[in-house]
Amino acid sequence: MTGEQIRLVRESFEKVAPIAGTAAQLFYARLFDLDPSLESLFKGDMAEQGRKLMQMIGAAVRSLDRLEQVMPAVRTLGARHVAYGVREEHYRTVGRALIWTLRKGLREDFTPEAEAAWAELYAALSAAMKGGAAAARPGVVAFAR
Ligand code: HEM
Repeated sequence: MTGEQIRLVRESFEKVAPIAGTAAQLFYARLFDLDPSLESLFKGDMAEQGRKLMQMIGAAVRSLDRLEQVMPAVRTLGARHVAYGVREEHYRTVGRALIWTLRKGLREDFTPEAEAAWAELYAALSAAMKGGAAAARPGVVAFAR
């Protein structure tokens, strides 16, 4: 990610943070609209899940200028997601719900440049998570990076 993209992601996340609860609600509603079968994967309290989601995004946003340092933890997070029943194709749906939520929450502040920056961050995180998941899945040949 470029320095400008990092700035755009931070700036937009700061605007979403005060409406985190609403954003999380919007996100899950959109996600389950896009793929109703995903609802059964979430066993816990959705408000709590929403807080975890925003915390995790916040942590990623804070580490943007040293993303490679948090990548091992992100890979492990991906491996844990296998046990939650998450499959590779679900990452695309979650990415769509995330971008939709940001657009809905930020409106005109969510410029095409900000959207591209978020898409890049999500692509980096989900690639690391899928890599960690593949390495954790038995019977799948994984290529270590
Ligand atoms: C960049 C992408 C993602 C991030 C940062 C993320 C983050 C997290 C975090 C921090 C947790 C808390 C539990 C833990 O730390 O192990 C969690 C749980 C979970 N995530 Fe994700 N996740 C991502 C993608 C996905 C995708 C694609 C799905 C597919 C639907 C998904 C479904 C779940 C489920 C089902 C749980 C467990 C919920 C429960 O305990 O009921 N996540 N996620």
